[in-house]
Amino acid sequence: MIQPGANVLYGNLGHQYVTLVRGEGVYVFDDHGRRYLDAIGGVGVVNIGHGVPEVVEAIADQARRLAFSYGGLMDNEPRQRLARKLQAWAPRGMGQTKTIFTSGGAEANEAALKLAYQYHWERGNRSKYKVIGRWQSYHGNTVATLSMSGRTSWRRMHTPYLLDFPHIQPPYCYRCPFGLSCSECGVACAQELRRVIRQEGPEKIAAFIVEPVIGTSMSAVVPPPEYYPLVREICDEYDVLLICDEVMSGLGRTGANWGIDHWGVTPDIITTAKGISGGYVPLAATILSEKVWQAIAAGSGHVMHSTTYGGNPLACAAGVATLNYIEAHDLVARAGRMGGLLLERLRELQQESPYIGDVRGLGLFAGLELVLDKATRQAPPPEWNLGERIEIRAMEYGLLVLAGVPGLVDGVAGEHLELVPPYTIDEEHIEFIVATLHRSISEIFAEQLGAG
Ligand SMILES: Cc1ncc(COP(=O)(O)O)c(C=O)c1O
Repeated sequence: MIQPGANVLYGNLGHQYVTLVRGEGVYVFDDHGRRYLDAIGGVGVVNIGHGVPEVVEAIADQARRLAFSYGGLMDNEPRQRLARKLQAWAPRGMGQTKTIFTSGGAEANEAALKLAYQYHWERGNRSKYKVIGRWQSYHGNTVATLSMSGRTSWRRMHTPYLLDFPHIQPPYCYRCPFGLSCSECGVACAQELRRVIRQEGPEKIAAFIVEPVIGTSMSAVVPPPEYYPLVREICDEYDVLLICDEVMSGLGRTGANWGIDHWGVTPDIITTAKGISGGYVPLAATILSEKVWQAIAAGSGHVMHSTTYGGNPLACAAGVATLNYIEAHDLVARAGRMGGLLLERLRELQQESPYIGDVRGLGLFAGLELVLDKATRQAPPPEWNLGERIEIRAMEYGLLVLAGVPGLVDGVAGEHLELVPPYTIDEEHIEFIVATLHRSISEIFAEQLGAG
């Protein structure tokens, strides 16, 4: 008999994938009726929980009226409403915003890249085309977005296709890339931006792209308070746009509207995806500040970027309903509150466990870094594959946790776990998450070390 998934090209062809059939609140259920607490919100997507009737109704209602209209030719009301809503969510310093909608994070970042270039092009600076990224950042899996990304393991195989975009070191204080300690570093990781802009030539640099809180490649690394203000200053000095990739950190996840809000810095472009529609339909957005779209309006007056599904009414209706739900239930504040509790409990777990070297995060965006020795911060050998083994063990105990992509130590080693649960989790769920993580981490380390 052919297996049910025989014709699916899975990411890991040697892995047996669990089949999910239903979701309800913070839980998902598989085809054997097993329940899992979804502490990764799908993958940082299901921010308001599974099966929210208000969103389901909004989608059904819109589908009955008008499921599709081509955004390049006609407008639709949900697109207008969602763009207006994003104006209300955006940092005030961006002025009047204008948003272009797409269907995923990579598309949103690809649009940001092209619009950043167009901004300079319209102003007569046609050599400013490169975007600086950071090592161990992730902005998507298309050729251009992987070129901006610094996720070494995913870049390696596709290097021949990648664009010649520079990268700087991340603000990773637990293992400072410059070997400095926080109090006396002078934010060397931000200063490196200036050095690379000058080295490449400011006339070639269009933008610097950041995940304000670094996500799946580093599990919730939070830069120090001085970092983004200095980055903003350097960008302004060299006429370089600041693009904030808020695909993971945006729309309330960190306890503020946007991750960057914690630093009080205004970006030129914000990209967002994942949680904008709560996972109910694919949707993404690239939000331009007034400064950026005004340059285009005053120049050619045409945006040289468009996709078939961008801004379709069904997706935008889901986006409006999701943001309405967040507002109506005050979920941004809740994410901050529950995130504080989650981090507190994880820090207590860190005291108990010899294998949790670092606990970090902001709001409901939390990460754990696994070590063999807390004093030396020695990373486990990558071939032990501990993160993925812990992820699988936790699943057996009914918890979904995300093994971060290895490589944060030196591009190869470094195991970490990420938690990005729905904003609707409560104290009891947090106790279950912490207890199950403890059990899974202890067992896998014991099995590995016992195996010698
Ligand atoms: C910060 C960030 N940017 C971009 C992306 C790419 O989004 P998508 O997979 O929807 O293309 C991701 C996906 O994980 C992400 O975490």
